[in-house]
Amino acid sequence: MSLQAAQNQSPAGASASPTGPSADSSKALYGGKSTRRITVHDIAAATERGEKWPMLTAYDAMTASVFDEAGIPVMLVGDSMGNVHLGYETTVPVTMDEIAMLSAAVVRGTKRALVVADLPFGSYQEGPVQALRNATRLVKESGVGAVKLEGGERSYEQIRLLVEAGIPVMAHIGLTPQSVNAMGYRVQGRGEEAAQQLLRDAKAVQDAGAFAVVLELVPAELAAEVTRTLHIPTVGIGAGSGTDAQVLVYTDMVGLTGGKVPRFTKQYANLRQALGDAAKEFAEEVVGGTFPAAEHTFH
Ligand code: KIV
Repeated sequence: MSLQAAQNQSPAGASASPTGPSADSSKALYGGKSTRRITVHDIAAATERGEKWPMLTAYDAMTASVFDEAGIPVMLVGDSMGNVHLGYETTVPVTMDEIAMLSAAVVRGTKRALVVADLPFGSYQEGPVQALRNATRLVKESGVGAVKLEGGERSYEQIRLLVEAGIPVMAHIGLTPQSVNAMGYRVQGRGEEAAQQLLRDAKAVQDAGAFAVVLELVPAELAAEVTRTLHIPTVGIGAGSGTDAQVLVYTDMVGLTGGKVPRFTKQYANLRQALGDAAKEFAEEVVGGTFPAAEHTFH
């Protein structure tokens, strides 16, 4: 976060609200007046103003259009689609074809949001040239405005080449789910050595040219330190309230995910219950012969 952004913050440390005295609310990423497609330059300007912003995942055109109409400025076609949309146990099996198809759907479903597509496991680890080939496909075929990839220092060369080629990159450090087989699912950056590595990773992705960085499952104090250290925005998930932006997997956020959800998510609706109730009511009316009624019938 920049000095200007820091100056826009209240003494209590809360970010200047887009409606605060120093901000022009018409420009705000969330709640602003502009209807054109958001770019990475708008993201940088918002961070410069000290504005916090929300990001949600989306995997289909209809859900994306709902979030777009709600004003969500950045939509991530995350490889979390593997777990929540495609029925895989992890994100590891997700393919380029799956990401490309669902990213195109999300782009078609949105008018304003910046759409960011994940590069799936195996699509960039071979090196920068492989990363460029696959990222180019997502930009050309699916129409996304940016890509996201996992890894800090280890992904420096990939990020650098993509940025040089004109493809904006969101980085992702801390817990990186594509490495679940090596890393497991646990809080990252605990202890001095791990914290120093996280800071090095954060600086590496910024130096490579990333326009933002996701911090997943990182202690809040460390995430806040990374946020103060970098000038690009940090996007937290399970990283406390000190980051510039927050992201949630939308199925967790709307209460659609079954079973146990991570402690860092918040459920703002109970769509699982609502969908199940609607399905049961439909089934009962079919079995009982009350659907379709006269108003649903043609003669
Ligand atoms: O795939 C995804 O949804 C993500 C978010 C959790 C940041 O990477």
